[in-house]
Amino acid sequence: MATSGFARLPGFRDFPPEELALRSHIMQAWRRVSRRYGFLEYDGPPLETLDLYTEKSGDEIVGQLYTFTDKGERQVAMRPEMTPSLARILGDRSRGMSKPIRWFAVPQLFRYERQQRGRLREHFQWNVDLVGEEGVAADAEVLAVAIDGLRELGLTSEDFRARVSDRRVLRAFLVHLGVSEDGLPQAFAVIDKLDRQPRDKAVEALVSRTGLTAPQAERVLESVSSATLDTLEEALAARDDAGSDVQRLRDYVEALRAMGLGDFVEIDLGIVRGLAYYTGIVFELFDRKGELRAICGGGRYDRLLELVGGEPLPAVGFGMGDVVLGELLAERKLLPEFASALDYFIVTVSWKQRGEALRLAHGLREKGHSVSYAFKEQGVGKQMKSAGKEGAREVLILGPDELARGRVVLRDMESGSEQEIELDTLT
Ligand code: HAM
Repeated sequence: MATSGFARLPGFRDFPPEELALRSHIMQAWRRVSRRYGFLEYDGPPLETLDLYTEKSGDEIVGQLYTFTDKGERQVAMRPEMTPSLARILGDRSRGMSKPIRWFAVPQLFRYERQQRGRLREHFQWNVDLVGEEGVAADAEVLAVAIDGLRELGLTSEDFRARVSDRRVLRAFLVHLGVSEDGLPQAFAVIDKLDRQPRDKAVEALVSRTGLTAPQAERVLESVSSATLDTLEEALAARDDAGSDVQRLRDYVEALRAMGLGDFVEIDLGIVRGLAYYTGIVFELFDRKGELRAICGGGRYDRLLELVGGEPLPAVGFGMGDVVLGELLAERKLLPEFASALDYFIVTVSWKQRGEALRLAHGLREKGHSVSYAFKEQGVGKQMKSAGKEGAREVLILGPDELARGRVVLRDMESGSEQEIELDTLT
């Protein structure tokens, strides 16, 4: 097959109609669920100043930025995530707004990632953020939105789970296990990579970066992986502040259980989240089989709005991408059947009925129906073939004898049955 000679950039997608149909199917589900929870849709620009990310997102994302100097000598970047834009937008306008603010967006984002399954250089990401509410009820509400977004697409608790943690609890637990305050950031980084790195490498990294001995490092990793609310409560009982953090996590899980979503939720202190701004409860959604990368990630970020120069408002939210989700839906055979559909195709017995066909087509379109017809003079057989290809449910056949009586033939394409009807009843 001849090609145009221009290759698509690696990591970018084209969306011919059948691919766009899948994207729309996912986005419509996201929008329905957002509205059900009372969230309003917003958007921002795809290009922002570079420093919005260098200061707020953390090293991993900054290393993946599409960035350049524009013609006005500004350092700019294509948005790799939505949260800094949200913080900037609210920084300008939140003071006059009633709280909590419930906003959602479905932006296209750009990250220059290493090519791997489930990661592209552009993706669409559903962002749901609840701003101005510090209580754990807001955390639970946000995770419920994420879970329902996937349920809306037909996925169940057999297909995916939410792994939840709290950075404050992890911090206290690591200190309890002997990690020094100075070693905490390094320990967080190692734990964040636990899923993607062999256990011995993780032990080695902990030893070299935090000064723990190998047996201590083994114990830290083992304890972190197997921690439950009960073991955490017991371990941290003596620390007042940490005790209330564990209780908060328990309340969070309880709230989700009360909503009937308990089957989806598992405590997992191994969830740290790579982004720099999270401050409390964090979560990620994964396929149950553990074959795919994270479908969704989010958590509480109580300081970001203030850091971007706005009103100091607590916030919690998540981002869910369309790429891994599309893979999971395909694997679970939950992709919608693609079919182009047309209400009517108009067939003329000869070109003489052309004027009548155009009048009828336009009348039907005015009434909201989808209508098509041949653009050139063609035999009836060929026109019928086109009607089939275009997915017409009904064909209207305009012939001289019927028209003389003010009637047309209506053919139902599924049953093949035909009947004569009054032309006037159609428009
Ligand atoms: P994130 O974990 O970087 O979080 O991304 C969230 C989700 O977006 C991931 O779980 C994944 O499904 C998808 N995703 C990310 N990068 C790619 C990629 N290169 N290709 C395909 N899919 C990708 C954030 O971006 C946070 N700003 C989310 C958030 C909103 N936190 C609070 N509010």
